[in-house]
Parts: sequence; structure tokens; C-alpha cells
Amino acid sequence: MKRVMNKISSLTKQIIPIKQYINVSGSIIPSPDRRWCGPEFKDDNFYLMSAENEAKRLIENFHCTPKSRVLDLGCGQGRLPIGIIRLLGHINYTGIDIDRNSVNWCKKHIEKAHPSFHFKYLDLYNERYNRKGIKIDENFRFDIESKSIDIIYLFSVFSHTTENDMRSYLKEFLRILDNEGKVFFTTFVEDDVPNISINPENYKLQCTGPLHIVRYQKEYLFSILDEYGYSIQGFTHGTEADGQSGIYLSIKT
Ligand SMILES: C[S@@+](CC[C@H](N)C(=O)[O-])C[C@H]1O[C@@H](n2cnc3c(N)ncnc32)[C@H](O)[C@@H]1O
Repeated sequence: MKRVMNKISSLTKQIIPIKQYINVSGSIIPSPDRRWCGPEFKDDNFYLMSAENEAKRLIENFHCTPKSRVLDLGCGQGRLPIGIIRLLGHINYTGIDIDRNSVNWCKKHIEKAHPSFHFKYLDLYNERYNRKGIKIDENFRFDIESKSIDIIYLFSVFSHTTENDMRSYLKEFLRILDNEGKVFFTTFVEDDVPNISINPENYKLQCTGPLHIVRYQKEYLFSILDEYGYSIQGFTHGTEADGQSGIYLSIKT
């Protein structure tokens, strides 16, 4: 018995820790098992290219510069900031996520080396990502000053949140955005479907787990955005990861 225990103990010591990150073309990116979004993101070059493309999206559509104040909600493991660092070097960036591990990864592998990038954990309930979090209520506020943000970015976040949570966020964005502020988000959007469907059958993906797909009927989603005071600057159907659509907003004047 003792010999078996010794053998196990020496084997355990030999186990090589799984790497949390890899260095690709001079950028630190999360190791494949830590990446969100579809299987194509497991490819290192695809991941890095997608990071740069997200940065380009903000530069080309919202004139993002090193002076811009960007809020990346649902930042995951920092795909957008990895792209921004490659293209712009630095900006005034805040990344927020309700998944503690993702935020810890970003603090360790991005914020330490790039101090203009800050990451914060937000303990909000989400049936998919944070079942122990606090449920959003009508008093919800981000710990962010009023009118202090130029661009709010949510990639593949409203595609996994309830309509109620999305509404609370849309309301709060109006407080924290500067007057010329812009928003980009993705979710699933179609024409001839119910106003809102959660994990619809026979759609784009085989759903695994709660809130895998949150899909809106286009006119219904646009009516919500109108109700909260946003103008739709752009809409691209099915162009984003897993066939989500991209929505570009400004504040109605
Ligand atoms: C599919 S991942 C996308 C990550 C990142 N935006 C990207 O494109 O690589 C969705 C992320 O949104 C986060 N999330 C979900 N609901 C959220 C919420 N209400 N507020 C902030 N983050 C949220 C999850 O924890 C997860 O990190």
C-alpha cells in the first residue's frame, strides 16, 4: 500500500501544470481550453486575427483612438484588448465580467503589463455564467462615473442574457455614456420568429446548457432600443460568431 502511495505521489509531482496562456506573434493569448465562443477560436491565428478585427471594428466604426474611453462588458479573456494592444498600444479601457476566472486571467496577463487596461469582477447572477451572483434589480448601477465612457462593447453577451438584464444594461448605458457615446453589441436576430426565444430548436446550434442562444425578432429588438433612446447606426445580419448579428448604436439627440 505504502509503495503504491509513494508511486502516486511521485507521479503527481511530475504532472506539468497546464499553461494558462501562449505567446503568438508577440501577443499573450489565453490557451485554447480557456477561450470562449465557437470552435474556430481554438485556432491561435484565427483567435489573434479576430482580436485585431474587433479592435479594427471600433477604430473604423467609432473612431476609437488611444484617448477613447472604452467599456468592454463581458470581456471574457480579453480578446478585444489583445487586439487593441496590437493596433493602438493603449487606450482608457475597462473590462468587466461576471466570471471571476476570466477577470483574474486578464488582470494577470494583460493589466500587469498594460496599466491603461483595467479589469473588474461584477458579481451578477446569470444562469449560464454565474449562478451564485446577485440578481439585477431596478436600482442596478455600474461602479462607473456618469458620462465617462465613449464606447460600450458587448460581443456575444446579450446573446446569453435575459431580456430583463439587457434592459437594465441599456438603461444604465445612458447614464455612463458621454453625449456622443456609441454602443456595439451582438445577439441572435431574425425576422419571422417570436419576439424572444431562448434556446430555440432547429436553429443555428445544438444548444448546451441554459441561455446558450437568446434570439430576438428584429422589429421587437429595434423597438426596445428605440424605447431606451438609441438610434440604430448599423445592423449586419448573421455576420458574427455562431451567426449572431451586429448592432451599432448611438444615443438619440
Ligand atoms: C461568449 S463569452 C464572450 C467573451 C468576449 N466578449 C469575447 O468576445 O471573446 C460571454 C462573456 O460574457 C460574460 N457575461 C455574461 N453575462 C454578463 C453580464 N450580464 N455582464 C457582464 N458579463 C457577462 C460571460 O461571463 C462571458 O465571459
